[in-house]
Amino acid sequence: MPGTDGLRVFVTRRIPAAGLDKVVDECDAEVWDEPLPPSREVLLEKIAGCDGVLTLLTEKVDAEFMDAAGSQLKVISNFAVGFNNIDVPEATRRGIRVGNTPGVLTDATADLAFALLISAARRIIEGNQYVRADRWKTWEPLGHIGQDLCGKTLGIVGMGRIGFALAKRCRGGWDMQVLYHDKHRNEAAEKELDALQVDFDTLLAESDFVSVHTDLNEETHGMFDAAAFAKMKKTAVFVNSARGPIQNQRDLCDALRNGEIFAAGLDVTDPEPVRADDPLVELPNCVLVPHVGSATVSSRNGMAEIAADNLLAGLRGQPLRHWLNPPQ
Ligand code: GLV
Repeated sequence: MPGTDGLRVFVTRRIPAAGLDKVVDECDAEVWDEPLPPSREVLLEKIAGCDGVLTLLTEKVDAEFMDAAGSQLKVISNFAVGFNNIDVPEATRRGIRVGNTPGVLTDATADLAFALLISAARRIIEGNQYVRADRWKTWEPLGHIGQDLCGKTLGIVGMGRIGFALAKRCRGGWDMQVLYHDKHRNEAAEKELDALQVDFDTLLAESDFVSVHTDLNEETHGMFDAAAFAKMKKTAVFVNSARGPIQNQRDLCDALRNGEIFAAGLDVTDPEPVRADDPLVELPNCVLVPHVGSATVSSRNGMAEIAADNLLAGLRGQPLRHWLNPPQ
């Protein structure tokens, strides 16, 4: 097997030992060990002369990045399933292999999406803040009323692995009808979950819960804008655990504030991190968590293993375990 000894890599943040140990054992690795990412300037300095880089979704990997690394760069291994931070066509043009970490975070992310859905529908965070602020004085027949889940309609935008896993939970556990909007037909979802493929407007109009699981790309950027929120039910809950820029955040804020939709549950914002003075943070009907979809032990360990394997395979000139730009 071709070796990786002496090949230089930069790892842009400490990742679980399940993957990091292999990288450190097998290559000449530098690991950025600070809690915050390196500045762009420092990042470009650190990657100069590297044969491989292990990046997070916080790093913009574009032509400037690849120029700064140099023509010996063989592989970019992203510690994420999403890869909107990487200019993959540019890497392909340069013969650089690009890998990501799908599969191992499907259940964790679907669980988180469901946690957001039920928290927003049943006003869990609001209730928690109410108790902590010592405002709980009595049992209120008309207080804290949320939305039902059983038998409602779930609209999945992007019926890939994670969308399917959420739909399976909602169908099996809550007897929801499942609608989905996707360029591709998902026969398994139709067969196993009785899911129905519909156009975007139908999904918006008919769903009680709309959950986003699509990639961020030119077509999906800002697809949830004022016009989209206006087409949703006033009782609807919007959930996004995919990427923040898929929602127009100002329009989402207005829709939540003006009662055009009931609530939102967001694992992702635009920008990230969301600023403390962002109007979204003030809204009682918006549940916000800090991009933690994959934050479970087995998901993060699995991601670390795949990211390390992708990196080492790329350094050796071998096929990556999860290869985004294999030769056609
Ligand atoms: C997280 O958002 C990921 O893409 O893995």
